[in-house]
Amino acid sequence: MPVPGPGYSITVRLEAPPSASAAGDLTTAVGRVGGVLTAFDIVESHADAIVVDITANVLSADHADDITTALDSLPGVHVRKVSDRTFLMHLGGKLEVSPKVALRNRDDLSRAYTPGVARVCQAIAANPDDARRLTIKRNTVAVVTDGSAVLGLGNIGPAAALPVMEGKAALFKKFADVDAWPVCLDTQDTEEIIRTVKALAPVYAGINLEDIAAPRCFEIERRLREQLDIPVFHDDQHGTAIVVVAALRNALRVVNKPIEKCRIVVSGVGAAGSAIIRLLLRKAPADIVAVDIDGIVHRERPGLDENLRLIAERTNGQQQTGTLHDALVGADVFIGVSAPNLFGAEQVATMADDPIVFALANPDPEIDPLEAQRHAAVVATGRSDYPNQINNVLAFPGVFRGLLDAQAHKIDDDMLLAAANAIADVVDDRLNASYIVPSVFDTAVAPAVAEAVKAAARRDEVVSTRE
Ligand SMILES: NC(=O)c1ccc[n+]([C@@H]2O[C@H](COP(=O)([O-])OP(=O)(O)OC[C@H]3O[C@@H](n4cnc5c(N)ncnc54)[C@H](O)[C@@H]3O)[C@@H](O)[C@H]2O)c1
Repeated sequence: MPVPGPGYSITVRLEAPPSASAAGDLTTAVGRVGGVLTAFDIVESHADAIVVDITANVLSADHADDITTALDSLPGVHVRKVSDRTFLMHLGGKLEVSPKVALRNRDDLSRAYTPGVARVCQAIAANPDDARRLTIKRNTVAVVTDGSAVLGLGNIGPAAALPVMEGKAALFKKFADVDAWPVCLDTQDTEEIIRTVKALAPVYAGINLEDIAAPRCFEIERRLREQLDIPVFHDDQHGTAIVVVAALRNALRVVNKPIEKCRIVVSGVGAAGSAIIRLLLRKAPADIVAVDIDGIVHRERPGLDENLRLIAERTNGQQQTGTLHDALVGADVFIGVSAPNLFGAEQVATMADDPIVFALANPDPEIDPLEAQRHAAVVATGRSDYPNQINNVLAFPGVFRGLLDAQAHKIDDDMLLAAANAIADVVDDRLNASYIVPSVFDTAVAPAVAEAVKAAARRDEVVSTRE
């Protein structure tokens, strides 16, 4: 049975009799219908009644109704109002712009704005590189989406994507002091997205593409990388790939296997799976077998698109055909970024000794992690309620911090691998089967990633200046 978490939390304001047993009756009523009580606050007290705020984690809207009904039906209890705490957090949005300069008097105004600002504009017109020195460009990233593949919600459009993009921007600020701003585009046309991002690029020192559906996301990223002089990063691809490669490096240390001897099955060859495969190939595993909704990807499979054709050429050395279950036989590692409930413990039992299972489909993984643990030596998921959460927050804030600090003009696989190594290194001697990646709240992660990416970007800059 799933356990209610803080993602869906309600506060019920109610009147209750001021009896000695009131608190016990109320908390028992919540527990009896499966709510997880997290706070009990008396907000008013009178001779004949108390007013109480009861906060509880719930599973769904129906479950919230069950809890409210259970409370309201207690003798003498009257529910006044039910608030959804997640919605309360989003009221009015989660970001604001705040000036860094004081605007106290005419003197301040004439320097921050006209007429003084004109000289700064002219300096940038004469030397465009000065934009990084004299404007917000230095520290600002656009979080660009077309709303076409938002979380697991699908194509919900740009306005509905905004709460996610605001959250992303808040994470950028919190973990790496990067000023990111949501840019939700009202178009899903590849050419129009490319044109628009190019047109707004002067303000930004980096572009973070987000929740744009595959395969469109591949072309948008590739063309923007070619045409812009700032780094373009698609978090759903590269953020995921970085954290997976970091986690795999440490998981292989736990089972004491070199990657060069491992056969890795990757289920899902969309945005995340394709990028994971590309980055893993840099680590030279014995083989990778990619599987998608139509089965194992191999060169002779009819109807391969450009992305799948490139992957087929570089993977599946034995040209294996068949299903995911076939691919799993004898595999050392399973990495799933595909769909829920695709296999069970009996398939894990067919894998090689000490298998590693990363079941990352969200919110429901490819295999129930408890099932996987019956035979797997290391299990990771995308979920926060199990150990080893593969969470992109470990990567993207530090990656952009490093890129901005290096004033990088591009991003490449060396930088992604540097970020992955930095994340894996933070775990250090705390490594065990339940701790292959650091906590997202480990304050050492973002600075370590930033430092590694900055160094890789600087190396890259030196190499390209010499060429
Ligand atoms: N950090 C994380 O935990 C993390 C990061 C990225 C993506 N994900 C999860 O991975 C999944 C895929 O994300 P995406 O952005 O790549 O999506 P996507 O739509 O771009 O790709 C999905 C892929 O899964 C394949 N697929 C679908 N059903 C399948 C099945 N029954 N068997 C095998 N393959 C199947 C599709 O063919 C496609 O290749 C989602 O559930 C997402 O939440 C998790």
